[in-house]
Amino acid sequence: MENNFDVIVIGGGPGGYVCAIRAAQLGLKTACVESRGALGGTCLNVGCIPSKSLLNLSESFHKAQKDFNSQGIEFTGLKLNLNKMMSGKNKSVQVLTKGIEFLFKKNNVTYIKGKGVLFSENDVVVYEGEEKTSYKAKNIVIATGSAPTSLPGIDIDEQNIVSSTGALSFDDVPKELIIIGGGYIGLEMGSIWSRLGSSVTVLEYLDFITPGMDREVSNEFQKILTKQGIKFKLNNKVTSVQNVSNKVVVNFTNNKTHEREKKECDKVLVAVGRKPYTEGLNLSKLGIKKDTQGKIEVNKKLQTSINNIYAIGDVIKGPMLAHKAEEEGIAVAEIIAGQAGHVNYDVIPGVVYTSPEVAAVGKTEEQLKEANIDYKVGKFPFLANSRAKVNNETDGFVKILADSKTDRVLGVHMIGPHTGDMIAEMALAMEFGASAEDIARTCHAHPTHTEAVKEAALAIDKRAIHF
Ligand code: NAI
Repeated sequence: MENNFDVIVIGGGPGGYVCAIRAAQLGLKTACVESRGALGGTCLNVGCIPSKSLLNLSESFHKAQKDFNSQGIEFTGLKLNLNKMMSGKNKSVQVLTKGIEFLFKKNNVTYIKGKGVLFSENDVVVYEGEEKTSYKAKNIVIATGSAPTSLPGIDIDEQNIVSSTGALSFDDVPKELIIIGGGYIGLEMGSIWSRLGSSVTVLEYLDFITPGMDREVSNEFQKILTKQGIKFKLNNKVTSVQNVSNKVVVNFTNNKTHEREKKECDKVLVAVGRKPYTEGLNLSKLGIKKDTQGKIEVNKKLQTSINNIYAIGDVIKGPMLAHKAEEEGIAVAEIIAGQAGHVNYDVIPGVVYTSPEVAAVGKTEEQLKEANIDYKVGKFPFLANSRAKVNNETDGFVKILADSKTDRVLGVHMIGPHTGDMIAEMALAMEFGASAEDIARTCHAHPTHTEAVKEAALAIDKRAIHF
């Protein structure tokens, strides 16, 4: 009986551990299997959390170096201690992973260490070193996440040619860093190392960065990052990357002119996306279906082709975001408990934690045009926001897209200071089906950056006050 559970969750990342806690809260006997040796998944161990720690620390260093003297905060002898910075980051990660273990104990979730393999629709076998233990479960949730992808012929060695994992732990600041891929990972990691002193070049296959982002925001984003010193080579296809003595040589070809170029650097970060991680789970033997991209197919209730086996997070369709996985984890736990768990995929915010931050929720202009939906645009620049102005953080704007007929908010796109936090208000507004008028009539505290949201809502009907 000890090894019998109502729910076994395979994977202890943000999707899996949240699902396990919610299932236990609902009275289900729950276990979570994790092979990494620490809970929290990619996000906590080698993703969101360590990168946000380094983004925060590198920004403090950069501000001290570039801004403080001119702002009357004078000092001499500023220097970087990368070792100390990395220790601080590692400590933050450790504290948070231990925090999840505590939450498991508090909620009565059994933490099973090892690699979980599906043996039948009710049997999970966990391998830990030489040991093999069998468990029975009425319901199984696959939450095994994703792994970095690479390009043909490029071997990530995590030394000189790295994924985000290696780029979070360089021993020294690389003099020349080449980043393949101008997406979320490339630009966050590029910002960190550029602030710490690297010369950063981003090679991007498309002729714009951050595909999927509202194009006006993406263009502004590139302009701001260029002003900060990051170099972009768009429309370029990387053909090979080679380790040559202590350096790395990257060969690439311009998609339009077909001109070939070669660039030498100290480190290369490959950030061209991630793929679902389902290796060794035994899915095909059980007949669990995957789509052409290797994502597990699920129905609206997040059930796989086997009714009592569910899948959530990066292994299924949708954006590979920790908070999307968490929502799905909660929904599945509630569905298993007989409740009406549900995820609103139209309102999943996305944030790039650069400086300034970029944040969005809902439809982009491009998506609305493609869907033939008539919309109005309200825009307000941070240059006209008093708080941003006194803080010398005037880059960027807030843009609200609302339905032309109903005034319902369809999408919000922001680039600017604190927008990663400000987007929560817009997600809430959209969950409540708010109109732009609702936002315009909501009192926003002065002086705050959030006034830019109210002003953008007013701008929909050309009645912004400060611009
Ligand atoms: P991504 O999909 O965001 O960006 C990859 C970029 O690489 C794209 O711009 C793509 O056009 C480019 N690319 C593809 N092949 C290329 C080639 N051969 N040469 C040059 N460029 C090429 O993927 P990324 O940045 O690796 O992130 C992976 C996942 O992790 C994403 O789903 C992202 O949403 C998530 N993530 C989210 C973060 C956040 O929420 N702040 C932070 C980091 C990652």
